[in-house]
Amino acid sequence: MPITILGIESSCDDTAASVITDGILCSNVIAGQDVHIRYGGVVPELASRAHQQNIVPVVDLALREAGISKHDVSAVGFTRGPGLMGSLLVGTSFAKGFALAMDIPLVEVNHLQAHILVHFIREPGISKEFPSFPFICLLVSGGHTQLVLVKDHLSMEVLGQTIDDAAGEAFDKCAKIMGLPYPGGPWIDRHARDGDAEAFRFARPSTGNLNYSFSGLKTSFLYFVRDAEKKDPGFLERNLNDLCASLQHTIIQVLMVNLINASELTGVKEIALAGGVAANSGLRKAVADYGKQHGRQVYIPRPAFTTDNAAMIAINAYYKYLKNEFSAQNIVPEARLKISI
Ligand code: KG4
Ligand code: ZN
Repeated sequence: MPITILGIESSCDDTAASVITDGILCSNVIAGQDVHIRYGGVVPELASRAHQQNIVPVVDLALREAGISKHDVSAVGFTRGPGLMGSLLVGTSFAKGFALAMDIPLVEVNHLQAHILVHFIREPGISKEFPSFPFICLLVSGGHTQLVLVKDHLSMEVLGQTIDDAAGEAFDKCAKIMGLPYPGGPWIDRHARDGDAEAFRFARPSTGNLNYSFSGLKTSFLYFVRDAEKKDPGFLERNLNDLCASLQHTIIQVLMVNLINASELTGVKEIALAGGVAANSGLRKAVADYGKQHGRQVYIPRPAFTTDNAAMIAINAYYKYLKNEFSAQNIVPEARLKISI
C-alpha cells in the first residue's frame, strides 16, 4: 500500500496544501494573500479570514492535481507552529476534521523542521542528492534565523539563533525604509543585482558566538538613509540599487560568518540552506562559492521550496508517519513552538 500524505500549511499568510506519496511530490498548491500588501506587513486578523476562505479550494485542488480522491489519503499532516495563532487554528481545525471524517491519523508538524526537510522531497523525473547526516542547515525566514545541526530527519539541535530580528525581518524592515513593497526581501534582491555591494558600509553586528543580531543593522540603516536624504534630497532614489546591494551584502556576510564558524567548530562538512531568505540570489551564490572553495558539499533548495509551502509539511509528516508519530484529536496549535531537539 502506498503511503499518501496530505500536508497543510497555514502558519502565516500562505494557505497551502500538498500531496506526497511514498516521499514523492504529487502536488503542491499555494494561495498567497495580496490583502496584506497595502498594509506593508501581514495583518493577522485578515490572514486568518483569508485562510478560512482558501483552505477548502486549495486542498481540493491539491487532491485533484495529484489525481487522487480523499479516500486515498493515508494521513493528514498540518503545521502546529510556530506562526500566527489565528492562521494556525484554521489549518489545525481543518486537518482535525479531515482526519476524523476519513478515520486516518493526524500528524502535527513543526514549521521550522519542515523548512529543513524540503531537502528530502523527491520529484518525479528530477534526480537529486540528499544531504547525509549530520549536516548544518542555515534556516533563514521572515520569522526565524537559526543554525541547526540536523542529526536525523526528526532530530535537530539549534546551534545558534537570532537574539532579536530575523534576517528576513531585516530585509523587510529595511525595504520599508526605502519605500519598497512588502515583502521587501525579493525587491532588495532584484535591485541589488544592478548595484555596487561596496558602495556603502554598514556595521556588521556580531554576538561573539553562533547567535545572530540584526536589530542594530536595521536602526543604523534607518539613520543612514534619513541623514543622507536630509543632506541630499533624492539620495535614496538615485542610490537605490547601491543601497540594496550594500545592505544585502552586509546581511549575507553576517549570515556566512556564523555558518562557516559552525561548520568549522563541529567539523560537519555538509551545509544546507532553507527558509524564505534562502531564495536570495546573493546568499545562494555565497554558500555555493564557499562550498566550492572549501570542499563543502552544499544543498540549496530550488526557490519554490524556500518560501512557505505545504510540500515541506507533507514530507515531514511522511517521516513521522513511518515512525508512527501521530497526534491526538485534542492537539492545539503553538504560536511559539520551538524546533525539536
Ligand atoms: O519562510 P518564509 O516564506 O516565511 C516565514 O516562515 O517567515 O520567509 C519569508 C521571508 C520574508 O522576510 C521575505 O522577504 C524573505 O523571506 N524573502 C527574501 C527573498 N525571497 C523571500 N529575502 C531576500 N531575498 C529574497 N529573494
Ligand atoms: Zn516559513
